[in-house]
Amino acid sequence: MSDCMRLDRFLSFMGCGTRGEVRDALRAGRVTLEGRTERDGGRRIDAQGARVTFDGNPLAYKPHRHLMMNKPAGVLTAARDARQPTVLDLLAPLYRACGCMPVGRLDKDTEGLLLLTSDGELAHRLLAPKRHVDKVYFAQVDGPLGDADAQAFAEGLQLSDFQAMPARLEILHSAPEGAEARVTVQEGKFHQVKRMFAARGVQVTHLKRLCVGPVPLDPALKPGAYRELTDAELAALEHCVRAGPP
Ligand code: URA
Repeated sequence: MSDCMRLDRFLSFMGCGTRGEVRDALRAGRVTLEGRTERDGGRRIDAQGARVTFDGNPLAYKPHRHLMMNKPAGVLTAARDARQPTVLDLLAPLYRACGCMPVGRLDKDTEGLLLLTSDGELAHRLLAPKRHVDKVYFAQVDGPLGDADAQAFAEGLQLSDFQAMPARLEILHSAPEGAEARVTVQEGKFHQVKRMFAARGVQVTHLKRLCVGPVPLDPALKPGAYRELTDAELAALEHCVRAGPP
C-alpha cells in the first residue's frame, strides 16, 4: 500500500474503527494532525512521517500487517466466495482493509497454521520452492506406515504430474488400521501432502499444519483465532527468505 493516503483511510488502517466510526471521531475532534485538531478525513498525509494522534495517543504507522491464524476445518483459503466462508471472513475489517491475504493455501478440511500478510513480496518469497521453507504437518492416515514410506518420501515421490521434492516423514504411531505422522515438505502444490500419502496407498483422514519455516502455530490460538506476528517471528521469517534474488 502507498504511504501517501487519506487521513480517514490511515485511521482505519491503524485500527481506529470502521469508515463511519472514523468519520464520527474526526467530527468529534478526537484526531490531531501535526499537533492540531483535524476534522477533514480527506486530507492526504504521508503515513510514514505524519504525526497523528487519536484520543491523544500517537499512532505508529506500520507499512504492513502480518498475521498467523489457526485455520479451522470447513473454511476456504480464498479471498472471497459467494457461498462458503473464507479465512478473510474471519478477519477484523482493519486487516481486510490493509490487504492481508493468505500465504499459500490450505485445503478446506485442513486445519492449523496459516500466515496472512499485506506484504506480497514476503508472501512470494515464502512460497517459492527454491527458498526451501519447511512446512510441517501432522497427518493421520487410514493405514499403516513404515520405513519404506519414509524412504520414498525422502527420495521424492513421483506423482502423476510432477516429481515431489524430497520430504521428511516421521512416523509417530502405526497400526494396521491407521497411523500418525509428522511430514515436512518445502513446496506446496495442490493437495500435495494428501497426494504424497495416496501415492503410498493410504488416505489422509486429518491434516493440520504445525509450522511454516521458523514459526510454529501458537498453541494458545483456538481454531478460527488469529493474532499479529511478533517482531521476533517476523524477523525469523524474513531471515529465512532473505538470501538471493526474489
Ligand atoms: N497438502 C495438502 O494435501 N493439503 C493441504 O491443505 C496442505 C498441504
